Amino acid sequence: MPWNFDDLQNQVNQEAAGVDSLQALEAFRLKYLGKKGIVAAIFASLGSADGQQKAALGKGANDLRGCVEQWMARKSEQLTHAQASGERVDISLPATGQSMGHTHILTQTMEEIVAIFEHMGFVTVETPEIETEFHNFTGLNISLEHPSRDAFDTFYLDAPDPSARGRQLLLRSHTSPGQVRIMKQHKPPMAVIVPGRVYRPDAVDASHSFMFHQVEGLLVDQQVQFSELKGLLTEFCRRFFGPKVMMRFRPHFFPFTEPSAEVDINAEILGIQRKKWLEILGCGMVNPKVFEAVGYPQGKYKGFAFGMGVERMAMLKYGINDIRLFYENDVRFLKQF
Ligand code: PHE
Repeated sequence: MPWNFDDLQNQVNQEAAGVDSLQALEAFRLKYLGKKGIVAAIFASLGSADGQQKAALGKGANDLRGCVEQWMARKSEQLTHAQASGERVDISLPATGQSMGHTHILTQTMEEIVAIFEHMGFVTVETPEIETEFHNFTGLNISLEHPSRDAFDTFYLDAPDPSARGRQLLLRSHTSPGQVRIMKQHKPPMAVIVPGRVYRPDAVDASHSFMFHQVEGLLVDQQVQFSELKGLLTEFCRRFFGPKVMMRFRPHFFPFTEPSAEVDINAEILGIQRKKWLEILGCGMVNPKVFEAVGYPQGKYKGFAFGMGVERMAMLKYGINDIRLFYENDVRFLKQF
């Protein structure tokens, strides 16, 4: 018989005992069980063997294969286990840490402003950024000749206004069209806050951006007085900037409020600006022409409205001196808030 099975068995045991890596184990397997391996060679020799030899060869080959397979199973378990424990994670090492994200400073500021008014009973409503000329201008008593209606001062879209023949839709230049939309849909009394983005084709610099955020306020009822507007905004500024803030109501003009005012705060007291007074918002008593445009009966209602720039509020509160910082998404800036 060309094969000595006792020797082969010993050889297998010896070689298997010396296998110390998964690669060596694979070489061991190929040597015996591979297509060109010893077991295959034994079976191949069966053809030329006589009857008795055949049986002995067959049994020997099968036993040898069984032995190799047993070694394979045992060794492979040993080696995998050893490898796994070699790569064990040291759980006593201090963690590298995962930094948590948070909302953008403008979102935080907007939410803070909105929350103060909600505490005072206002309801928050969002209205579209794509608007009609009626909501953005005409309904607010902003006449055709008004400079802000000029194509250079408003982003007109290449899209026809389905509600007005020959007119185009636009990106709202302030949140005040929200007043018109809400009054067209609801009857007073009402007290609403409209936060959102507004767009103006301004060249970008430290204090201008083609897109920024406003928060609009509108309160309408049968009896509303300017002193109530003053009281509300004073309380708002105290809550937002702190009790030491000083305010000034300065007469101004807006087509949709009469009388109108701009509110300045004493920026020196906040210790963040060189200029003494800084404008933070526009406001006034709703112009009866706006009530007329939304279809309210003449003389029945009174109301006040105000609108503030969110970037401006955040810049004053946190001493930020360049509006572009809000939009550049530099994490070194954002993570300070
Ligand atoms: N919409 C005005 C602006 O963008 C601000 C404003 C709102 C003024 C409401 C009066 C009343 O400048």
